[in-house]
Amino acid sequence: MDHFLYRDGALHAEDVAITEIAAEVGTPFYVYSTATLERHFRLFEEALSGLPHLICFAMKSNGNLSVIRTLGALGAGIDVVSAGEYLKARAAGVPGERIVFSGVGKTREEMRIALEGGIRQFNVESEPELAALSAVAASMGVTAPITIRVNPDVDAKTHEKIATGKKENKFGIPISRARAVFAEAGRLPGIEVVGIDVHIGSQLVDLEPFEQAYLKVADLTRQLRADGHDIRRLDLGGGLGIPYERSNAAPPLPLDYGAVIKRTVGDLGCEIEIEPGRLISGNAGLLVSRVIYVKSGEEREFLILDSAMNDLVRPSMYGAHHDIVPVVEPAPGGEMLPYDVVGPVCETGDTFAKQRPMPRVAAGDLVAFRSAGAYGAVMASEYNARPLIPEVMVKGDQFAVIRARPTYDEMINRDSMAPWL
Ligand code: LLP
Repeated sequence: MDHFLYRDGALHAEDVAITEIAAEVGTPFYVYSTATLERHFRLFEEALSGLPHLICFAMKSNGNLSVIRTLGALGAGIDVVSAGEYLKARAAGVPGERIVFSGVGKTREEMRIALEGGIRQFNVESEPELAALSAVAASMGVTAPITIRVNPDVDAKTHEKIATGKKENKFGIPISRARAVFAEAGRLPGIEVVGIDVHIGSQLVDLEPFEQAYLKVADLTRQLRADGHDIRRLDLGGGLGIPYERSNAAPPLPLDYGAVIKRTVGDLGCEIEIEPGRLISGNAGLLVSRVIYVKSGEEREFLILDSAMNDLVRPSMYGAHHDIVPVVEPAPGGEMLPYDVVGPVCETGDTFAKQRPMPRVAAGDLVAFRSAGAYGAVMASEYNARPLIPEVMVKGDQFAVIRARPTYDEMINRDSMAPWL
């Protein structure tokens, strides 16, 4: 459920009409609903109630400072994957002890920044990274709390570009080598092992792969404890999917996911961390765009929008589906026409949807892409010299621009002329 509903014939974000935001900030823009973000966070809180836990929002899905502060104020931890994300989380007011640092390629400089600022744990993904972290921490005279990410070799049954838990993927260490690597970690200076980490992929719409992976983590916990390690934290990653197509069966709910966690690792006495991104931010955001032209091709009608693949890359990158709805409520039972919905960028890949049935739309109309709050703005680029689009946040009847649209001059002046030119 989200808070983007038609009211009096027009799409609203909570109590604010989308047309009102469009009139003030221009199109295209992203808009986020505070109530939806908060609701989704609380669903995970309820799902894990009864277990000691920390829900670490994966800020790679949406890194806006206002989004991070909204969640941070509810007690969320943050899962970061770069020094940039770490520093943004701190700038949004999240304390270091609630930040976990994931990612396969942390540099020594990034490790130093997080150790200096304070960090809950590093999720270490390889032996060379372990050695580097040990050296950095020891040189600073501090100890780095770590989990080691294991690769459980489980098929997440999701899009190949976002599956991470098979042995051919670059993530984690093979679970078969885990005992040896934990033993190595136990011997290294500057390292304190606190737990195990796993993350098998994103947009999972089936709980079975989670169950398989978490059972393997439970077994490993017992083994490692028998080896003498104090395993007190389990980071179970993110990945729970969302309903991108309203017409499809809904994926499992956080409560069902929580039940899997309780059933598989709930009796180990560990503190549980999870790193959901998409389920919290995805349906909390829309991309709002205006139709520039309706162009009749030989065989099809093209809706040419003012947003493009540089603003929302998921359809061209993953073939992802986003529901696209008119901002003015269509008449119930009205005629539906098949449109090819495209952007102005000069490649055929700049296509949001093909032959998508939609109510009749005219040039100048506003349309909204649903489920665009995760992996939308964060993956945007200025391809074709199209300035990054603004982000807006709504809370009740208020709205605020939380990232301004750069002017053309600002965009141009980020380049500089080589001195010989
Ligand atoms: N933790 C780790 C270590 C991750 O790699 C990810 C996502 C998450 C947590 C959060 O997963 P979520 O709950 O959001 O599924 N750009 C792609 C998704 C990439 C996901 C990468 N890792 C997309 O637009 O679908």
